[in-house]
Amino acid sequence: MRVVERWGAVLLLLGAVAVAGNGEKLFKEYCWGCHHQTAEAFGPSFRSIADKRDAAQIMAQIADPEHNYKALGYRRNSMPAFADLNATQLQALTDYILSFKDKK
Ligand code: HEC
Repeated sequence: MRVVERWGAVLLLLGAVAVAGNGEKLFKEYCWGCHHQTAEAFGPSFRSIADKRDAAQIMAQIADPEHNYKALGYRRNSMPAFADLNATQLQALTDYILSFKDKK
């Protein structure tokens, strides 16, 4: 029984590490065509987003850009919705974007 509990804790820990590293992978898969980490591309850089937005604003835009762009001050929406991302993936992407705050 003890051994089983210990392995459970190890697996949980590994899971948390995997999720933390996932943001970059998801970004390369879904966002790289339009966003760069530190340079302006078709969309704003993740660094500039991290400097002016909080997690809730970022998540709202990823989940539903069509209904969120106005709240961020944009006149048009050119970003596709990523409705099939699950909550964990959304969180990983948001953390990844926010990790560029104050990066030079
Ligand atoms: C087809 C191009 C395109 C893709 C792909 C794309 N975006 Fe965007 N994104 C944009 C554009 C253009 C904007 C500016 C606002 C708008 O068009 O709605 C934007 C805006 C944003 C914003 C808000 C910017 C701000 O001012 O705060 C966030 C956050 C964001 N994108 C995250 C992502 C993430 C994360 C992904 C990948 C899952 C992604 N985008 C994929 C084009 C794209």
